[in-house]
Amino acid sequence: MPKIKTTYICAECGYTSPKWLGRCSDCGSFNSMSEEIIEKNDKVSSAASVKSDAVLTKFNEVKKSSYERISTKIDEFDRVLSGGFVDGSVVLLGGEPGIGKSTLLLQICQNIGESGKKVLYVSGEESSEQIKMRGERLKITTDYLYLLPETSLETVLSAINKLEPNFLIIDSIQTMRTEELTGSPGSVSQVRECTMSLMEIAKSKNIPTIIVGHVTKEGSIAGPKILEHIVDTVLYFEGDRREMYRIIRTVKNRFGATNEIGVFEMTGEGLKEIKNPSEYMLSGRPLNTPGSAVTCAIEGTRPILAEVQALVTQTNYGMARRNVTGIDQNRVAMMLAVLEKKTGMQLGNFDSYVNIAGGMKITEPSVDAAALAAVASNYRNKAINPQAIIFGEVGLAGEIRAVHLAEARIMEAKRMGFLECIIPSASLKGLKKPDSIRILGAKDVSELLAAVLG
Ligand code: TYD
Ligand code: MG
Repeated sequence: MPKIKTTYICAECGYTSPKWLGRCSDCGSFNSMSEEIIEKNDKVSSAASVKSDAVLTKFNEVKKSSYERISTKIDEFDRVLSGGFVDGSVVLLGGEPGIGKSTLLLQICQNIGESGKKVLYVSGEESSEQIKMRGERLKITTDYLYLLPETSLETVLSAINKLEPNFLIIDSIQTMRTEELTGSPGSVSQVRECTMSLMEIAKSKNIPTIIVGHVTKEGSIAGPKILEHIVDTVLYFEGDRREMYRIIRTVKNRFGATNEIGVFEMTGEGLKEIKNPSEYMLSGRPLNTPGSAVTCAIEGTRPILAEVQALVTQTNYGMARRNVTGIDQNRVAMMLAVLEKKTGMQLGNFDSYVNIAGGMKITEPSVDAAALAAVASNYRNKAINPQAIIFGEVGLAGEIRAVHLAEARIMEAKRMGFLECIIPSASLKGLKKPDSIRILGAKDVSELLAAVLG
């Protein structure tokens, strides 16, 4: 009889403690400790068992390896992987239920299977019949796709040994359980243990693997945060289930760039790539309407145009409302304060709504100038030139600060047929100005408003 022991594990950081704690003493999160039954490991670790076969390599003698990449033949997905899957790499794909993870994976299976590679799709959530039904809608025809509806890790491992697949999908890690532990599937120790085992087999057999992870209400992958540390690449599905478009963002990548995004649209036949996100984000934009401004944000390495909308209306209930979606609420509050101070607009008596059209999220401060201009435009009831884009960070003193990659933003505006760019004066230095687009520099809020509203 193995000795049974329980410990308490923090769901946020994986810290373990022999007794329950209201607050994790490692990462400080509240109420994150849960009880886990773990089997006591009989192996003794002592100085006597120290291994003597450690291999040391000099930095200068390490050979540079170039990774061979397996393309998914979906450009937008290859982009977030910096070119495709690396052999033996483990990718964690996170996202809300129903956002399209299984749909996308099945489409990837088709493309990889078509190139003659054996794909093993392990599903702990759906039966083979359910997957088949979905696959028919997605026009899956490959002869190289194998399904395994299974939740036992040991069975999955033996299937891998039997089939020797070239590509592996685990949908999802929260449904897997190993018999070595007694906890239920989805518990911190099960999730961690299963991931470690899958990682081991992926590395030893050189099988690129995608692991699906569910996200919690707070938007992080359920289970220990250390899951993200174990795997090579972490991708997140963003966007709203109710909206048609989906964004996949690279949060971590040991084999490439982070923050790269791929843009998709959910259609009746699965996820379709959106090759020109700027066009998509600006479709249906009202022209010559007060409160609408176009900006250019850099997502990863890619510039994307987006429309910032603002609506400013007289407050009815004494307390002015501030409603913001798509950008940081605190930055908008700051923008409103700067406007009040620098231009004398009485925004305290007005409700302000600021929104990025299309549901995109912009985390970059370069959106400041456009947000501020949109608010001022709506307040003054004066439209901004619809052929102009605006970008720049706004400081507390009302200065417009330089942002990186100004040239790339301008080129994107030009490509989309815009005729004018209003940018920070500081970004003008050394800027190669393309012809056929007018560039105006603004050094502070009053120059900015003069340029956009006259
Ligand atoms: P799914 O891929 O099962 O999401 P997850 O695995 O992330 O939970 O969710 C797909 C959702 O998208 C589901 O609500 C149905 C819808 N859908 C389409 O609109 N078109 C399609 O072709 C398919 C397969 C699904
Ligand atoms: Mg699914």
